Amino acid sequence: MRKKVIAGNWKMNMLPNEAIDYIQEFTPLVKDTNNEVILCVPYIDLFYALLNTQGTNIKVGAQNVHFEEKGAYTGEVSAKMLKSIGVEYVIIGHSERRQYYNETDESVNKKVKAAFENDLKPIVCVGESLEEREEGKTVEKITKQTRLALEGLSNSQVKNTIIAYEPIWAIGTGKTATSEDANNSIKEIRKEIEKIYGKEVADEVIIQYGGSVKSSNAKELFETSDIDGGLVGGASLKPDEFAKIVNYDK
Ligand code: PGA
Repeated sequence: MRKKVIAGNWKMNMLPNEAIDYIQEFTPLVKDTNNEVILCVPYIDLFYALLNTQGTNIKVGAQNVHFEEKGAYTGEVSAKMLKSIGVEYVIIGHSERRQYYNETDESVNKKVKAAFENDLKPIVCVGESLEEREEGKTVEKITKQTRLALEGLSNSQVKNTIIAYEPIWAIGTGKTATSEDANNSIKEIRKEIEKIYGKEVADEVIIQYGGSVKSSNAKELFETSDIDGGLVGGASLKPDEFAKIVNYDK
C-alpha cells in the first residue's frame, strides 16, 4: 500500500519568526498521523524550519534548486547546498516556476537528476492549463511532462520520485478538480510510468494532487484509488487548517 504524502507549499510567504511560530503550533497537531508530512518553505526559512522540526515527524523541503553543483549562478542554490543543511525534499517544476522563470521540461529533468545525485527527494509538478484542458490535451500534456521529467532515471529513482499533478487552472483559484477527474488524470500518469518503467515502479510511485486542496475536500480527494496525498499551497499557510488536511483520515 502506498503511503499518503501531504506537503505544504508555502510559496513566497512566512518570515523566519512566523515559520517558527507556525511549527510550534503545528507540531503537536500532526504528531500522531500515519501520513508523511512535509513543509516546503522559502530558502530563508529552511534552517529555522529544520532546527524547529528536529525530533518530530515533520520533514522539510525547498521549493526550487539549481541543477549545477556550484559556480557563477548568482542568486541560485544547489542540491548539494540544500542537502548540507539537512533538507530532504525539493519541489521541482512548479507551474509558477515554469510560467514566470522559464522552467522547461529539460531544466526540470536536470534538476531532478541533481536532486538524486545529492540524495534529495524531488516532488515534480505536472499539470495542464485551462486552454489545454478545453482542447482535450490534458492527458497528452501531463504524460509528456512526466516522461521528460523522469528521462534517464533508474527504476529505483523513479520509485523515489513524488509526482504532483496540479492542473494550473486549479492552483490558487478555489477551483478544485473533482476527485474523479483528478484520480483519472493521475491514473494516466501512472499508466505512462508503467509503460516505461514497469508495473512494480508504477504501483509504488507516489502521485499527489494539488490545486485548491483544503480541509473540506481533502478526504474526498485522498480516498480515491490513485491520489496519494496532496501538495497544498494556500491552505498550508494556517497551521490548524493544514493539520486538518494532514489528519483527513482521523
Ligand atoms: P493552492 O496551491 O493549494 O493554493 O491551489 C497549490 C500549489 O501551487 O502547489
